[in-house]
Amino acid sequence: MTTNQELLLLHKDCRKCKSCELSKTRNNVVVAKGNSKAKILIIGEGPGEQEDITGFPFVGRAGKMLDSALMSVEIDPLEDCYITNIVKCRPPKNRKPLLNEINSCMPWLTKQINLLSPKIIILAGSTSVEAFLEIKKPISKMRGEWIIKDNIKIMPIFHPSYLLRSPSKEPGKPKWLTWQDLKKVKAAFDNL
Ligand code: URA
Repeated sequence: MTTNQELLLLHKDCRKCKSCELSKTRNNVVVAKGNSKAKILIIGEGPGEQEDITGFPFVGRAGKMLDSALMSVEIDPLEDCYITNIVKCRPPKNRKPLLNEINSCMPWLTKQINLLSPKIIILAGSTSVEAFLEIKKPISKMRGEWIIKDNIKIMPIFHPSYLLRSPSKEPGKPKWLTWQDLKKVKAAFDNL
């Protein structure tokens, strides 16, 4: 079996997961979207309402924002990226995922990473940074700087939902900063 087939099989297994309480309230397990051979992995926090309904990550308003941020640096969200979340099931009322939910879900993400072997990881928002890197620091202090782990270049960025609440594109504002961060990602991607 190719690693690509293994990844698709993993998606199938993940859709049956009942390892935490979120499985009781979800409509769909939201495993991933994008290219299963992509070099860029994007990790968000967890599914929202639209994601829970459709079974795909980042399809709601935050997803549209993520898409346009990526496209502004000529990264194709579905061709160049594989997109997933820290937790694969929607936390009720979009609350932050609990530590036990994150821990129960993490083996799926670990397997996704092992099969995808991304060269670049974009961590969208502080929950993703905290859960993935086990660093509890404000995203404003983490974003924009590469972190290298297991030979993978990791770029923390503001969560796209935050950009929705902060629409100014002026230099120094969150949207502009995210654009700078993604330009770094694009340069690294072009260098692979
Ligand atoms: N926010 C996330 O972090 N992930 C999604 O899939 C949608 C919104």
